[in-house]
Amino acid sequence: MAEHPAYPVGLRLTGRRVVVLGAGQVAQRRLPALIAAGADVHLVSPEATPSVEAMADTGEITWHRRDYAEGDLAEAWYALIATSDPDANTAASAEAERRRVWCVRSDDADAATAWTPATGSSEGVTVAVLTTQARGRDPRHTAAIRDAVVEGLRDGTLVAPHHRSRTPGVALVGGGPGDPDLITVRGRRLLAEADVVIADRLGPRDLLAELPPHVEVIDAAKIPYGRYMAQEAINNALVEHARQGRSVVRLKGGDPYVFGRGMEELQALAEAGIPCTVVPGISSSISVPGAAGIPVTHRGVAHEFTVVSGHVAPDDERSLVDWPSLAKLTGTLVVLMGVDKIGRIAETLVAHGRSPDTPVALVQEGTTAAQRRVDATLATVAETVVAQDVRPPAVIVIGDVVGVGPHGAA
Ligand SMILES: C[S@@+](CC[C@H](N)C(=O)[O-])C[C@H]1O[C@@H](n2cnc3c(N)ncnc32)[C@H](O)[C@@H]1O
Repeated sequence: MAEHPAYPVGLRLTGRRVVVLGAGQVAQRRLPALIAAGADVHLVSPEATPSVEAMADTGEITWHRRDYAEGDLAEAWYALIATSDPDANTAASAEAERRRVWCVRSDDADAATAWTPATGSSEGVTVAVLTTQARGRDPRHTAAIRDAVVEGLRDGTLVAPHHRSRTPGVALVGGGPGDPDLITVRGRRLLAEADVVIADRLGPRDLLAELPPHVEVIDAAKIPYGRYMAQEAINNALVEHARQGRSVVRLKGGDPYVFGRGMEELQALAEAGIPCTVVPGISSSISVPGAAGIPVTHRGVAHEFTVVSGHVAPDDERSLVDWPSLAKLTGTLVVLMGVDKIGRIAETLVAHGRSPDTPVALVQEGTTAAQRRVDATLATVAETVVAQDVRPPAVIVIGDVVGVGPHGAA
């Protein structure tokens, strides 16, 4: 007899009894999805792994601590048979057949009345991949197809441009420190859906090259600002493009809210009544030191790290930073936008009690192909910056963590 293909269906299990026999690896992997589906899960097994036990402890499932017994499938809508005893599995699937309960069997796909597809979700869509017939089933192949589809949906490469549901308005997307792999999945998808991208000089510039030709890419630094401030001109450009009904991505370096003026842009959009979504990004303040082998905290070395802007000097009346207090801290200081002022910053820290021997590392263009690390101390950093021609963008790390990694200063 010809083997017919399986008929795909989505079961709506909310509040419906599902019986799981056995609590090994298979059950452990399937239980979270059954719980997420709202099923009334009854697990029958004398033992369970600690994570399955935790599900019973929190009341997510009901655990019957015993072997399978005839009658366990009464009232069930669906059963997952996965004990380590083939005889019990056979008896249970016979009971399922008799009671007309759809059942999957971990040990014998041929004997099952249902198969579990390889599944994954992205943005409100569940992808489920089944092989057509029991014979020649190759779970790795179906899982690979599932991965390719889900990955494509997540990074936007599988979005059909004319049928996609686009996010209206503006997305302020944190692009991470520069390496194109360090943007979030959501940020990448929004970028793939954009009509207009307004990008900063910092951030993942390589991603812009991948955008399709119809996407308008605008360099934020080149927006003419005439009688406005540069930031106002950017805000106006965001508003104007969004008002034209376009999907606008404002791609920013690092995280939009870490010295990124993200809130100013959000406020301008809110005032104009334009919906705005903010996607966090990996901030250079943590990731750039990390990329150069410096942890911002380390057990027994630094129990705090403080991120400071160095764009105005410590003695500048516009400075909002309490440098004398920072000098008294023993942990890590991370200075952004501080290359030009590092001499005055180091002097101030030493004048208020930080040791001149405190290690300092400057990490220029972190996470990019041009990444470079230069080491110094508070006493030598001013001359080192000049001698080594360190230029922005750089993250400056001050503290003993500079020396803990394998690349630490000797
Ligand atoms: C205006 S701030 C923006 C910070 C950003 N929002 C973040 O969370 O990383 C710019 C400063 O971030 C630092 N920076 C950003 N990306 C960097 C990178 N790839 N390498 C070194 N420093 C970087 C530099 O100190 C630069 O002057």
